[in-house]
Amino acid sequence: MKKLLNIVLSASFLAASLTAVAEEAKGPTIFERIGGEPVAREIVSDIWDNHGKNPIVKNRFQYSDPVYVKQKVYEIFAMATGGDVEYTGQDMKTTHAAMNISEMEFNAVVDDIMDALDENHIATQEKNEILAILWSVRPDVVNSNISTKALSPATAAHAH
Ligand code: HEM
Repeated sequence: MKKLLNIVLSASFLAASLTAVAEEAKGPTIFERIGGEPVAREIVSDIWDNHGKNPIVKNRFQYSDPVYVKQKVYEIFAMATGGDVEYTGQDMKTTHAAMNISEMEFNAVVDDIMDALDENHIATQEKNEILAILWSVRPDVVNSNISTKALSPATAAHAH
């Protein structure tokens, strides 16, 4: 009986602690912390400009409509950072699947995004949180058949 009481007590203690953690995590969203819509729109516009200057990816966007792409990227950026915005574009896998995007191109896009965050004076904490979100999207964007893993020297050596 005492044992049962202990289990019940520790279970409710655990539940209370988890609720406390959840409450703490509820604080302001990344979207709010970076300055909401005006700053997010500016970041997205700078990402677009940086892509246009980046030799690794600029050709990818040469026929794209900037107004359309910036709107979709704003929506997904806002949504992913906790803003109350609905993403109305295609899912990331469908969008990028046929493009054969390499890890190098993915990294170049991430660099352009990090530069845009610097250009808008986003603090390290928020930059790191955004980087983690970008990294989570990587498997949906990069074509794993051309990942650097398959091209590593060790793999190449074994091929002989
Ligand atoms: C975390 C990484 C990325 C995110 C979050 C992202 C997001 C998006 C979004 C929201 C769209 C619009 C989808 C729609 O039309 O409904 C899009 C389109 C596109 N993305 Fe990405 N993308 C990423 C990485 C990349 C990379 C690495 C490349 C290649 C270098 C790339 C090339 C493109 C191109 C060419 C389009 C089509 C633009 C058009 O419609 O003309 N993306 N992306």
